[in-house]
Amino acid sequence: MRKYLAIFISLFVSSTLFANESRVCQKCHPIIYQEYTESSHKNASTYNNPIHKALWEIHPKDSQGYKTCAKCHSPSDLKALNEGVLEDNEIQKNAPISCVYCHSIKMVEEGEGSNTNVLTDKKREFYTAEQAKKGKPKASYETKSSWFGLVKESRNSPYHKIEYNNENYYSGNVCMGCHSHTNNEHSFDITMLDAMIDKKDKNTCITCHMPQIAGTKVTINETKTHAYHGIAGIYHMNKEMGKYLEFQVDKTTQGFQVKIRNKSNHALFGQSFREGVLDVSIIRDAKVINLKPFIFTRILGKDAQEVMPWDADMTLKDSLIYAKKDIMFPVKLQDGDSLKLTLSVRRISKEKAKELGLNNKKLTKKRVLKVQTFSF
Ligand code: HEC
Ligand code: HEC
Ligand code: HEC
Ligand code: HEC
Ligand code: HEC
Repeated sequence: MRKYLAIFISLFVSSTLFANESRVCQKCHPIIYQEYTESSHKNASTYNNPIHKALWEIHPKDSQGYKTCAKCHSPSDLKALNEGVLEDNEIQKNAPISCVYCHSIKMVEEGEGSNTNVLTDKKREFYTAEQAKKGKPKASYETKSSWFGLVKESRNSPYHKIEYNNENYYSGNVCMGCHSHTNNEHSFDITMLDAMIDKKDKNTCITCHMPQIAGTKVTINETKTHAYHGIAGIYHMNKEMGKYLEFQVDKTTQGFQVKIRNKSNHALFGQSFREGVLDVSIIRDAKVINLKPFIFTRILGKDAQEVMPWDADMTLKDSLIYAKKDIMFPVKLQDGDSLKLTLSVRRISKEKAKELGLNNKKLTKKRVLKVQTFSF
């Protein structure tokens, strides 16, 4: 019992000591915590994301202050969320969207400008998804003695309870409080994820972006795998994400057509200033012929001029990948040619980075999602 008492005492001390409760989670979920520190969610604040900072600085300010962004970018900082005051603190830097925040989303309320997360008011009771435990009652800490008290076994967490019956964590709807849409004042969606959750889909936001990978989810009971909290996507595991995108090439009389089929349930590269790039090269007689890359982007405007996302009320150009995208190249393929297709994504286009005065090359780096070669 002494061992458990020690855990309780150290947890009690640390939970009152740290303003950032995610540090408490770190003690028993170190792998998940480590991944989280490298995720877009930990980096969503102005302090950690230079693109976000640059845009917030030039965004028109009103009485709402930073509330307009905090709702999704740092909801764990209550001062930013409720008063719109942005200040350099532990939460902004280390857990703007914290472990507790995500695991406390009880339901998602649909809204016109954006959706809203409704949190549970129960302290230290978290939601998660696990098929094997669905339908079972809430899991609380239990200990069991056997061998006349010589061997002590424990189940579940001494720190928190777990509720396995919130459907939102199975369908992926838990992500939709922040990811569904972000409309500007002119009811214009500036993130354009355009996601559709369908119960019949084999994959969800969670199975694709938080896949099970090797490593235990908790130190107390070893498990083989855990859900990846670094978020597979633009920052990490980008090449693995390519398996959800399919290429097909058809020869035509004028040239050839590249057909892209998107297996995800949403549009790709819709975030303002994001840019998808399809590089195409023909390898002919040991020479490489590079064709003009195709750019996937969405340009927003007003009065037919490009403007900042918050002022936009029309789309000037939309070349995003929705469910499918066919692109024509007016170049004839010959027998013996190889055609190499490379699809990648830049967090921000080079032009926009320059306009915003961002010269960190990492931000505009092409992150490869898929490479495939076809022979003719
Ligand atoms: C003292 C150790 C301890 C601390 C601290 C702790 N947990 Fe846990 N947690 C556990 C144990 C043990 C389980 C049960 C794992 C199992 O059933 O295999 C668990 C399970 C979970 C689960 C569900 C996993 C599943 O699939 O069953 C979630 C979600 C979770 N914890 C989140 C958190 C968060 C968020 C924090 C910080 C606020 C935290 N935990 C702090 C020990 C801890
Ligand atoms: C309704 C939720 C929501 C609100 C409110 C919101 N955002 Fe976002 N924002 C997101 C989501 C979700 C993403 C990621 C979208 C994606 O990757 O497709 C994002 C991405 C961004 C990005 C791109 C970051 C990168 O590294 O590529 C910037 C910049 C940004 N938001 C700025 C802002 C600013 C400034 C505000 C406040 C004026 C704001 N956002 C308000 C949800 C929101
Ligand atoms: C963006 C929201 C989000 C954040 C932030 C987040 N989680 Fe999770 N977490 C989830 C979802 C969704 C699942 C369910 C995954 C599944 O179905 O396999 C999950 C699963 C888990 C599990 C169970 C793992 C498994 O394989 O079933 C644990 C433990 C956990 N989270 C702990 C944490 C800790 C600790 C942190 C902070 C370091 C954290 N989470 C931050 C959304 C989040
Ligand atoms: C079948 C797998 C799959 C499913 C299901 C899926 N995604 Fe994606 N998602 C992808 C792929 C592939 C990309 C492209 C790689 C990238 O840009 O990160 C992507 C990209 C994204 C991006 C970055 C978009 C940008 O601005 O470029 C966000 C945000 C996102 N997904 C969120 C979600 C959410 C929320 C859900 C659930 C509604 C979801 N995804 C469901 C595969 C999936
Ligand atoms: C509290 C709001 C919030 C919730 C809940 C949330 N996200 Fe995010 N997410 C964001 C914001 C804000 C960004 C943009 C961060 C940035 O770069 O500034 C983002 C970025 C992303 C990205 C793009 C960056 C990348 O790493 O590829 C993906 C993918 C993503 N989230 C997936 C998910 C999934 C899956 C869930 C549900 C398990 C989820 N998010 C839940 C707010 C949220």
